[in-house]
Amino acid sequence: MESYRDVFDLTGRRALVTGASRGIGQAIAVEFARRGAHVLIAARTASGLAETVEMATGASGTVTPLQADLRSEASITSAVSDAVSALGGLDILVNNAADDHDSSIEDTELGTWQRVLELNLQSCFLLCKAASPHLIASDHGKVINVASVLGTVAVANDIAYVSAKHGLIGLTRALSLEWAIHGIQINALAPGFVETAMTAPALANEAIAKWIKRSTPMGRWAAATEMTGPAVFLASEASDFMTGQILVVDGGWTAQ
Ligand SMILES: NC(=O)c1ccc[n+]([C@@H]2O[C@H](COP(=O)([O-])OP(=O)(O)OC[C@H]3O[C@@H](n4cnc5c(N)ncnc54)[C@H](OP(=O)(O)O)[C@@H]3O)[C@@H](O)[C@H]2O)c1
Repeated sequence: MESYRDVFDLTGRRALVTGASRGIGQAIAVEFARRGAHVLIAARTASGLAETVEMATGASGTVTPLQADLRSEASITSAVSDAVSALGGLDILVNNAADDHDSSIEDTELGTWQRVLELNLQSCFLLCKAASPHLIASDHGKVINVASVLGTVAVANDIAYVSAKHGLIGLTRALSLEWAIHGIQINALAPGFVETAMTAPALANEAIAKWIKRSTPMGRWAAATEMTGPAVFLASEASDFMTGQILVVDGGWTAQ
């Protein structure tokens, strides 16, 4: 009889998770470490990174902080090489760092558009490019691009963010075809509305907060920890025959 194997196990996997100083990235990094992964977390805020390390106390894996601004190509290249030297290689890349700037085309200056695209799309391209040889060398290469439901459908007055997230889903599909032959799976995780610092202004706006609750069939926002199960699935052997796909986790929002 074949012995039982946990297909969600991440023991010994080496992961880089960007934007893990709070919110969804923090929850994912801690869950990966609890499942045995060695995780390098990259973001700008030292206190948030330290909090993530603290939250992973007692985990069978480890969390190592790296302070980095992922808007610059140089810091992306050195974040990947720091991860590879600290962890001895790289199996999993989670492109999660992003920011938002809700505005219409009239109210979006070119500089704002460029800043949003630079972090939410270009940094993911550069991280994939820098990680590529290491993921090819790994026997378990996985990339998770944290996109959004707003990468699959649009809302008005969020032009740069919606465009970047649609681009990230395009990048996921295009790269899945280039990497399939190398045994790397790359998928997008598309959350619906999640309570984090990014959505704090929406949550504080009564009309918007009400609209989000009303328009989500499950009638509530998600907690960041509700993204960890889908992320573990996409990082683990459980998803080994899945690539170039979008895993939508939105309480039914896009089912309507
Ligand atoms: N919350 C939602 O409802 C929702 C819905 C769909 C998709 N998402 C996506 O989920 C991901 C995480 O979002 P979240 O809600 O958890 O947001 P969040 O709480 O604002 O966290 C964003 C993370 O990105 C990091 N970051 C921002 N700018 C950075 C930079 N220049 N260099 C390095 N790190 C940077 C932040 O850390 P520092 O500030 O310390 O650098 C932080 O750790 C994003 O891709 C977002 O688009 C969120």
